[in-house]
Amino acid sequence: MSSSIMSQLRCLRCDATYTTREQVYTCRRCGGLLDVEHDMDALKKVVSRELFDSRLGALDAPYNSGVWRYKEMIFPDAPDEQVVTRGEGNTNLYRAPKGLAAWVGASALQLKHEGENPTGSFKDRGMTGGVTHAVLVGATSVACASTGNTSAAMASYAALAGLQGLVFFPLGKISMGKLAQSIAYGATSVQVRGDFDKCLEIVRESCAQFGLYLLNSVNPFRLEGQKSIVIEIIQQRKWRVPDWIVLPGGNLGNTAAFGKGLHELHELGLIDRLPRIAVVQAAGASPFYQSYKSDFEEPLVPMQAETLATAIRIGNPAGYAKAIRTLRWTDGVVESVTDQEILDAKAQVDRSGIGCEPASAASVAGVRKLILAGIIQPEEEVVALLTGHVLKDPDMVIKYHDGTLAGIDSNYRNQLKVIDPTLDEVRALLTQENALVAP
Ligand code: F0G
Repeated sequence: MSSSIMSQLRCLRCDATYTTREQVYTCRRCGGLLDVEHDMDALKKVVSRELFDSRLGALDAPYNSGVWRYKEMIFPDAPDEQVVTRGEGNTNLYRAPKGLAAWVGASALQLKHEGENPTGSFKDRGMTGGVTHAVLVGATSVACASTGNTSAAMASYAALAGLQGLVFFPLGKISMGKLAQSIAYGATSVQVRGDFDKCLEIVRESCAQFGLYLLNSVNPFRLEGQKSIVIEIIQQRKWRVPDWIVLPGGNLGNTAAFGKGLHELHELGLIDRLPRIAVVQAAGASPFYQSYKSDFEEPLVPMQAETLATAIRIGNPAGYAKAIRTLRWTDGVVESVTDQEILDAKAQVDRSGIGCEPASAASVAGVRKLILAGIIQPEEEVVALLTGHVLKDPDMVIKYHDGTLAGIDSNYRNQLKVIDPTLDEVRALLTQENALVAP
């Protein structure tokens, strides 16, 4: 079923509007970012906490998905049978284990694990929205630039929908796990001699020139899907709003999506206040943090990005304008953390049994830093987003624990051991580990 409620696209900058059946991502008139604008008066009459709660046990697509459970708020006029979905979302919201919470210094910390999506990152939530739109406008080829997760998600959903996928990666700057996913799911996978920002430029030009459908987060239908993360967090908390939601920022698509989702939840009367958003960037890839420090008075100054958290190695974020809007709506803050802080936080998240990829740990490192700075209070209710799965970047795990990452101290090391197969060696090992039970 598709709902009779219609949405449209509206330019943030010049107010131009487009229908949702056009293949357009940024404004044709002025180049500004587009929003999917919903008919809020019509939505107010149909959406409720009860409606969304009633779908929690759904077995059939698309309502068994943690994105399409909120279909009226995401893409109301998409016909159900044309939705391209893998039942994404429905990810765990963990209470942080005691040791981790103590290390962070937060007594009420929760972790929303988006690494538990079908391809191992939050990008699946955006991709189900974007690829569904691609199908509805009759696209046959889809493309994106990526630091690895967007491409893994796109390759999977394109294959599912029978579309040809084309991916541009920065040469040598993406983890093997992510590269492998794109190749395995059958996308044309291309390494570009340049960084992510260059890849994004070339893919945007290629889409305009050759008619490919663009699946980067400038695509507003991707952001509608990603919006479901905040809706799901709040539903999992029985509609109680946390004090803070903290997330890593790279291209700033998620930051943009979170602000829009929260603003709409509030306008629809589903929540009574907005949480504060904290965006955390890697210090070597922190153009948004730099602008934040100048109160966004200066235009964005792109930087040559460098960080071991390759997922967020981005110097010229495309979601900038919408991300500023999110900060204004939510009284938000931006923080930056070093690679050392990111990798130590990752070791702690991993050691707690939950695990995540490096960029994800920026959020946890950020919470710790914001508590030390007195911006987040230790007893406040904080949800930190883990954006990707621990297996996305195993190389980084092995090198950290091996102590072979240049410029990084392995402060929470769990060194891999090698022994000969003798009981003497096992006894020596257990003694050394304080794990000997019987004499
Ligand atoms: N965390 C992970 C694991 C990511 O893959 C990304 C972005 C982010 C955080 C930042 O999110 O861009 O919305 O601010 N990855 C993109 C990609 C750029 O190509 O996979 P953002």
